[in-house]
Amino acid sequence: MKNRVTKAIFPVAGMGTRFLPATKSIPKEILTLVDRPLIQYAIDEARAAGITDFIFVTARGKYALEDYFDRAPELESALRRAGKDELLETLRTTNMESGAIAYIRQHRALGLGHAVWCARRLIGDEPFAVMLPDDVIAAETPCLAQMVEAHAEVGGCMVAAMEVPADRASAYGILDAGAEKGPLIQARGMVEKPRLGEAPSNLAVIGRYILTPEVLGNLSRIKPSAGDELQLTDAIAMEIEAGRPVHGFRFRGERFDCGSKAGYLQATVAFALSRPDLRDEFAGFLDGLNGFRAAAQ
Ligand code: G1P
Repeated sequence: MKNRVTKAIFPVAGMGTRFLPATKSIPKEILTLVDRPLIQYAIDEARAAGITDFIFVTARGKYALEDYFDRAPELESALRRAGKDELLETLRTTNMESGAIAYIRQHRALGLGHAVWCARRLIGDEPFAVMLPDDVIAAETPCLAQMVEAHAEVGGCMVAAMEVPADRASAYGILDAGAEKGPLIQARGMVEKPRLGEAPSNLAVIGRYILTPEVLGNLSRIKPSAGDELQLTDAIAMEIEAGRPVHGFRFRGERFDCGSKAGYLQATVAFALSRPDLRDEFAGFLDGLNGFRAAAQ
């Protein structure tokens, strides 16, 4: 199949300072939503989209993340002996086939664009995905799978997009939005973290990308911009300037910003409520809280 997307880059080198002190010894990608680490949600979404090669851009202190994807033979045999097949099956989904996963070190924290550039030698002449595990998206059809399907039609570069309130635009990459066709928005430009009141639209880039190899070439030419960092947004914007197609994609689903404490807590509640084994007990607890709050007012 033409333009099949089989490789995904996961930039996971960030220090997670917003979650200190927890992230002093645990990578933030290992923080759990209910009982699964954030990174597992991203991996599952990637697999559902047909990704077979997983490239992690890591940094010092991320050992727990590498260990997480290793087999745990002692644990597995203990579970087997105890006849705990369901737990064994749960563990199985965390195992990676040998050779399916690669770790690249980002030696200096120079920005998202630099992190993706670090993986350039593992990407061939084919489109590839970038997934930011902080953005957790609950969706019936996983977000990246929606994008891969749309990408097969239009090619070029594609970024997940959603509307954000005007006063939040400066926290995101923002699209200069052109013509829309169904979920696709033609991008006329893209700007990283525009100043308040200067955003070209309220359509924000969310952490799912399908990019062409040309973007990797652009990444070696960009200069630091927003936050004095090398920005992926700028390398994608260069594709627009070169006259090649870049689309925003309005995905169907709910996005949680698990890079922020409030978003992480919201995701925890939403995912707990969507779990058949927890729903009733947890919903009962939340109802109780509402009563408690009403009584306090
Ligand atoms: C990154 C990207 C930004 C995008 C955002 C989505 O920013 O640089 O373009 O809108 O992710 O979560 P960060 O959140 O790392 O500052």
